[in-house]
Amino acid sequence: MIDDINIANLPGIGSIPQIAVPNEAPEEPPHPADVTAVPSSGAVPQGSPSVASPGEDYLIPSGGIGSGAIGSGPIGLLSPEECQLFRGVVAKYFPEEVLSAPSPATESVSAPSVAKGGSSADDTALNDTETVLRENGFGIGIPETQLVQNLNYEEADVINSDQVRGQFPALHQKVNGHDLVWFDNGATTQKPLRVIDGLSKFYKTDYSNIHRGAHTLAARSTDQYEAARQKVADFINAPSQENIVFVRGTTEGINLVAHTFGRKFLHEGDNVIVSTLDHHANIVPWQQIAKAQGAELRAIPVDQNGDLILSDLERLISPQTKFVSVGHVNNTFGTINDVRSIIRIAHSHGIPVLIDGAQSIAHTKVDVQELDADFFVFSGHKIYGPSGIGVVYGKKEWLAQLPPWQGGGNMIKDVTIEKTEFNVPPARFEAGTPNIADAIGLGYALDFVNSVGIYNIERHEHELTEYARQQIARIPGITIIGNPKHRVSVISLDIPGIPAPEVGQLLDKEGIAVRAGHHCAQPALRALGYEMSVRPTFAVYNTKEEVDRLVIALQKIVADRT
Ligand SMILES: Cc1ncc(COP(=O)(O)O)c(C=O)c1O
Repeated sequence: MIDDINIANLPGIGSIPQIAVPNEAPEEPPHPADVTAVPSSGAVPQGSPSVASPGEDYLIPSGGIGSGAIGSGPIGLLSPEECQLFRGVVAKYFPEEVLSAPSPATESVSAPSVAKGGSSADDTALNDTETVLRENGFGIGIPETQLVQNLNYEEADVINSDQVRGQFPALHQKVNGHDLVWFDNGATTQKPLRVIDGLSKFYKTDYSNIHRGAHTLAARSTDQYEAARQKVADFINAPSQENIVFVRGTTEGINLVAHTFGRKFLHEGDNVIVSTLDHHANIVPWQQIAKAQGAELRAIPVDQNGDLILSDLERLISPQTKFVSVGHVNNTFGTINDVRSIIRIAHSHGIPVLIDGAQSIAHTKVDVQELDADFFVFSGHKIYGPSGIGVVYGKKEWLAQLPPWQGGGNMIKDVTIEKTEFNVPPARFEAGTPNIADAIGLGYALDFVNSVGIYNIERHEHELTEYARQQIARIPGITIIGNPKHRVSVISLDIPGIPAPEVGQLLDKEGIAVRAGHHCAQPALRALGYEMSVRPTFAVYNTKEEVDRLVIALQKIVADRT
């Protein structure tokens, strides 16, 4: 493991800075600049998050900037061969240095990284070191994304929770006298420093309106906004950034597609298919447009486990079916719907499909081309990004056919009093000044996810969810609602005799934040015989210790009532 590498002993390298991870609520969010000296062993401690400032290419233990320090990047993984190579390079070029080699195989190994800048006398040696390691193929100073993006599920390593948690200031506070446990991730996620600092820097130095100005700040803002669009395209493997429309969130995205598609293509007697598992955001807009056009809304039914009954889809499809719109992951039971099959079946009838990715985007790999989705929609705030920003991915042929959503600036090519020539997508669907900063912030959030690795996140959350299910299932007097075959990150539970909102409040007294209610998925809950549930949902920064605290709190709630 990287802890074993005594990089502090490399020539010209001073002490490795360590980021203090506060146990208590900090007055100010912990910032990478808050550093303390490394322990005398020189080992890089676990739990010392290394946060690259937005816009910097370098993964460093902060405090390293200007200090000329080499340190441990947080999350990169080295293969056994790379570990071997690392050892060899160090032995060859720095024979006098004592370096415990990283453990190969499946151990977690952080990639070495180098701080840039500074003017100390150590710089020459630092640059030499950097050059040597670079020439030998190490990811010195390369963005985290490049270190991990090629991992597959099997190669993925366990997540170092301390390192990840250190990047989320909001997690380091007390609520009602207890360390906060944030299990309301299905509703929204907390934000990493990369997003918080990135937004702050953007507003401090680069902010302007975009696309229209001739000045420097307009160019900076436009470049960053469009770069964020490209990051989104890369993240979901869209063919191009022209497939990406920025909207306020999933809700607005589904409304955009439902109303533009519906106005043009839905007619009296047609029908649209959604699913019983869907969030209201994927039901109400289709209901509204169906009603306006004289069309009908149909729903794929759900079984008592919380799985869609897909065999019914063929039965629901008729020659009048014009659109299928379904959730990827259900927000109440965590069901991962077999959207590949849904898309394949719909396409075999020539019907386009929208996938609501609000609950999948942060938890599982999304590849829109592999899915062959015609539209894919998600919200930034559910994937560690800001609220008020979201994405509609659309195939070019579909975006080109849809009429404009709202009218105004930016979405036009030419305007006279008599008529308007509309812009091409995606601009056609982005009328007015968009949410510039938060689109850029979403880009930083995706950088964060890439730095950890979506497969790592998926595995971590899967283990946590299954652990939580097992532990909660052991508590007499608690029912876990639903048992879907494939699931992520969500558990719904019921304590007969205690209303869900009351359970939510009792957990809050213990510092544990969960959602309690109908989760904007009333048809789904009702199909399984419930009106409400208590819903803990898990994210990359959650731990088994937090699950244990939830279990103990639930046990207490049940015991106090019996
Ligand atoms: C499955 C699903 N779809 C849509 C939404 C709506 O997302 P937003 O409120 O960000 O528009 C949510 C929010 O919880 C959701 O879980």
